[in-house]
Amino acid sequence: MAEPVAEESPHIVIENLRFRRGRKVIFEDLSMRIPRGQVTTVMGPSGSGKTTLLRLIGGQLRPDGGRIWVDGQEVARLSTRRLYALRKRMGMLFQSGALLTDLSVFENVAFPLREHTDLPEDVLRTLVLLKLEAVGLRSARDLDPASLSGGMARRVALARAIALDPDLIMYDEPFTGLDPITMGQIVTLIRRTNQSLGLTSVLVSHDVTEAMTISDHVVLIADGRAVDAGAPDDLRARASDWSAQFLEGRPDGPVPFHYPGDSYREDLLGVRERRDD
Ligand SMILES: Nc1ncnc2c1ncn2[C@@H]1O[C@H](COP(=O)(O)OP(=O)(O)OP(=O)(O)O)[C@@H](O)[C@H]1O
Ligand SMILES: [Mg+2]
Repeated sequence: MAEPVAEESPHIVIENLRFRRGRKVIFEDLSMRIPRGQVTTVMGPSGSGKTTLLRLIGGQLRPDGGRIWVDGQEVARLSTRRLYALRKRMGMLFQSGALLTDLSVFENVAFPLREHTDLPEDVLRTLVLLKLEAVGLRSARDLDPASLSGGMARRVALARAIALDPDLIMYDEPFTGLDPITMGQIVTLIRRTNQSLGLTSVLVSHDVTEAMTISDHVVLIADGRAVDAGAPDDLRARASDWSAQFLEGRPDGPVPFHYPGDSYREDLLGVRERRDD
């Protein structure tokens, strides 16, 4: 008799992550698991550290404490060579889009292939056209990035991110600034890419509606920790104070509106107030 199938190990495991920028603590004690082969969205307010988290996962930043494993490898302990190899298997869509403006659409998608492989030109061309076809932009291959709409640019960035057939793809705010139709196309594309390539997709977003639609798994972060996690329906059903505030877009609640700092009176009047903390 076949052994029972063990539950697949998570693609990413984060345990007790601590990270600060100067005196500002971004992650105090962050733990989460990102399941393999699914779409996971990390949601949190602006400034909560979502972009920072992706950079920690990608090994561009090092934690001050705690650990991050990707595919069973602890990112901060990898040699440069192994980190480079791991990164080759991670596709990344940056928050700013970041296409190379002096290269055509074709050359933008070809860029990672030229950098990481020695493929002959005809094979490279076939691969680039395949990726552009997958995002519906094969015919736009000769255009400059400057002549693309925001939605098209994001699709080119997606084609570039999957050029090396990664097993993990990370999207930083993929929905920002798109009209509803384009947004729908990007949502469909992210889901379709996830299914057809069988990869693990990690999104960070503060776009509640889209994130809840697209995700199999959602993690909410605030105050340097994961405050809730689960399937979108479960989260909605048991909404804690914090997730209720976030999911319903209430301005007030456990998350303060003001960035912590000197008091308003202090700043306006130039006086120092006595503090008990
Ligand atoms: N290079 C940096 N130097 C110092 N502080 C930084 C740097 N980058 C980010 N921060 C700070 O780290 C915190 C988290 O920033 P991060 O960009 O990760 O937030 P975010 O959740 O992605 O926000 P948004 O939703 O606006 O993109 C912010 O308070 C920011 O000011
Ligand atoms: Mg960000």
